[in-house]
Amino acid sequence: MTRHDHYAYDNDHPAAPNQLASLAALLDDVTIGRLAHLDLRGRRCLEIGAGGSAVPAWLAEEVGPGGHVFATDIRPAFIPRHPRLTALAHDIATDPVPKPPYDLIHARLVLMHLPQRERILARLADALTPGGVLCVEDWAIQPDTAVIDAPTTGARTLFAVYQHAVARDILAAAGTDLTWAVRIHPAMRAAGLRDLDTAIHTPVWYAGSPGLALVSVNIAQHRDRLTTGALTDTDLDEIARLATDPASGLVVRGHLLYSTIGRRD
Ligand SMILES: C[S@@+](CC[C@H](N)C(=O)[O-])C[C@H]1O[C@@H](n2cnc3c(N)ncnc32)[C@H](O)[C@@H]1O
Repeated sequence: MTRHDHYAYDNDHPAAPNQLASLAALLDDVTIGRLAHLDLRGRRCLEIGAGGSAVPAWLAEEVGPGGHVFATDIRPAFIPRHPRLTALAHDIATDPVPKPPYDLIHARLVLMHLPQRERILARLADALTPGGVLCVEDWAIQPDTAVIDAPTTGARTLFAVYQHAVARDILAAAGTDLTWAVRIHPAMRAAGLRDLDTAIHTPVWYAGSPGLALVSVNIAQHRDRLTTGALTDTDLDEIARLATDPASGLVVRGHLLYSTIGRRD
């Protein structure tokens, strides 16, 4: 077993900039909306598995002089730069939480990918200051009935087959838990956190928008796996066209983002 073998994607892949920019475009405003009520001036914050999100840079502005933000990733090349932001190459599945304690810890679309997610969550809770806040956000991936509209019945069926193949052959096969998101709230309660607050963001993704740009990323990174079952290379090219051509008519219910905030006593 090698390190990092439970993450389905790779920030060194040529498609990674598109993936991480799409995630930031989809989710950064949602996350910032969840955290904006916190008074973070002078605080220490930790972002886990930051990818290319602008959230750590936003936190670095919020903490102001006297505060600091640490942002980790197994492949940290896309973490933004800021004078109050330190990027760390770090594996949260195997390494101790770096430089605790923290007033805020945030992890988005990371724990769902890591089989040790419950143990990691407990370690993150332990790394909080008294009164410190943990925010965990992950997608619940439910491929059934996700296609809202498509130009033809054939296109609807093709896209549904693709979505099931991604869920099964890319994500679940790599250890991603597609339903973990619905268990974040009780897992945070079990970790001893209080004042739990869960919100669910339900987006709709239109052809050509950042949510459906992730289809090209999946096909670029995992074409081989996607063609082991019912899909051919020609199918994948058509699926990519349906997803990225703004005129294709494809409309999909995006993944549900479960966002839970809890506080340590
Ligand atoms: C799906 S991306 C999400 C990126 C960012 N959090 C966002 O929501 O836009 C998952 C990120 O977690 C990182 N990652 C995966 N396994 C990790 C681990 N064991 N420790 C730290 N980071 C990890 C990946 O390299 C990637 O940047």
